[in-house]
Amino acid sequence: MSIDSAVIDRAISYIQNFFAGDSSGHDAFHSLRVYKTALAIAERENADQGIAALAALLHDVDDAKLSPATCAGKENAAAFLRREEIPEEIAARILHIIDQVSFRGTDSVIPDTIEGKCVQDADRLDALGAIGIARTFAYGGSRGRALYDPAILPALGMDEAAYRAHVAPSLNHFYEKLFLLKDMMATQTGRAIAEKRDAYMHTFVEEFLAEWEGIPGSS
Ligand code: ADP
Ligand code: NI
Repeated sequence: MSIDSAVIDRAISYIQNFFAGDSSGHDAFHSLRVYKTALAIAERENADQGIAALAALLHDVDDAKLSPATCAGKENAAAFLRREEIPEEIAARILHIIDQVSFRGTDSVIPDTIEGKCVQDADRLDALGAIGIARTFAYGGSRGRALYDPAILPALGMDEAAYRAHVAPSLNHFYEKLFLLKDMMATQTGRAIAEKRDAYMHTFVEEFLAEWEGIPGSS
């Protein structure tokens, strides 16, 4: 499906305006990185680039954390697609992808389209690596969460309801979500990039925990 480049430009302006002032790691640059990565994966996986592009750009405008009131009906993305006169069948495909993208603990789904797999992998890759580390602590700060508290252990095996209701120090997020993502990647391309970013995060968490103990010889 070829999507007019003017539509893509307006989608970019829309998210820049929508996420202006976000300090939770979900600013417009996040959606732009997901867009760029989703297109690169789509090219390698022979997926429809137009569908992947619009789904990537719009994937967080009805997110459960960021816009809980519109999450179920995807009203923000649907309204944008209607304004742009995207044919209904194409719009439905895009909204379906957006619905499947988000991490839901043990209720997470593997998208049933190749374009959905590309966008989900791209979104998850942006949760990993150096940027993923930065976003995790930005998100925690935006919600008033501690960096770490050794007395609060990570909660494993959460379903969607438990995951959404869960409040914990940011470091726990590595065990509760980020270290799980490598094995949840849906494309070969995504998996290869995820492995490198996962290794980097493990090194970071090891160093964090070592520094937490103070320098050797201190008490
Ligand atoms: P998803 O919908 O799959 O959760 P997002 O695009 O909304 O993906 O981005 C999720 C990112 O937001 C996380 O990877 C992390 O950086 C941050 N985040 C979300 N929830 C938490 C949390 N409970 N603690 C720390 N960071 C979080
Ligand atoms: Ni996202």
